[in-house]
Amino acid sequence: MRWTRKDLLGLRDLSADEIRLILQTAKSFQEVSLRSVKKVPALRGKTVANLFFEPSTRTRISFELAEKRLSADTFHVAASTSSFVKGETLKDAAKNIEALKVDVMVMRHSSSGAPHRIAQYMKASVINAGDGINEHPSQALIDMFTVLEKKKKIENLKISFIGDILHSRVARSNMWGLTKLGAQVTVCGPQTLLPRGVEKLGVRATTSLLEAVQGADVVNLLRIQTERQDQSFFPSIREYATAYQINSEILKHAKEDVLIMHPGPVNRGIEITSDVVDGPYSVILDQVTHGLAVRMAILYLVCGASSDGSSEEDGL
Ligand code: CP
Repeated sequence: MRWTRKDLLGLRDLSADEIRLILQTAKSFQEVSLRSVKKVPALRGKTVANLFFEPSTRTRISFELAEKRLSADTFHVAASTSSFVKGETLKDAAKNIEALKVDVMVMRHSSSGAPHRIAQYMKASVINAGDGINEHPSQALIDMFTVLEKKKKIENLKISFIGDILHSRVARSNMWGLTKLGAQVTVCGPQTLLPRGVEKLGVRATTSLLEAVQGADVVNLLRIQTERQDQSFFPSIREYATAYQINSEILKHAKEDVLIMHPGPVNRGIEITSDVVDGPYSVILDQVTHGLAVRMAILYLVCGASSDGSSEEDGL
């Protein structure tokens, strides 16, 4: 199949085939990072703007490096050092950036729906790099790619998300994507951090950590997103950790070859102990490595190139 969308705003709107196309394209880009010259000309002549209105380490550097590996021209706009602090609207700023003939905008914003709104005004492609509590599609695609790399399939795997599901755009994008690819998804956390009616997305919800871990093929941890909480959802971080922390003791109930994943940033000693972060089941740094190939694939596809995975004519 061919990619036909201008933007990548979320996994909610994508079909299973579109998700598979991104993952297959990422597979073909994986090899580029192993070359001595880690660069292909696929996006030569294209310009990518990275607009980050919220802090980011992994997503920002991963997109920037992916753009450079594809030979695109890139620049970065941070809210704190731009004219947003002088009262310029997001729409005006985006229009000004587009006036420079930018081809792609990668946008992270604290408001859910901000990239969707900008995408309506722009001829440029918009890639959602995380919007409020709504979606973080590239992170979910990285998580799916990592599961595929390690388990060789997604269908029928038992994949549990543990933590602050309510405020997690990573969990939301994963729920949309993984259920489309046939995984059995469980979400787990205190009742107050489970979105009401989340089962309608085709997932199982539980407040029992043991239930979520028992028999799991993959355990994906989410930090408590204090920056998105204006009220107290549990008595204290210490009590949260007592009930929901993943440590080597609780992991005895998971499958022998369980994968431990975390989109980062990790809060060691809260949602996960240090020995598990650095332990044999952890693929947390593999997720970061896979981020490059996945984001190269997303950039390549939205820039309008058709992909059968490896054509030299396509600059691979
Ligand atoms: N996973 C993720 O979005 O991390 P950053 O906030 O560091 O980009």
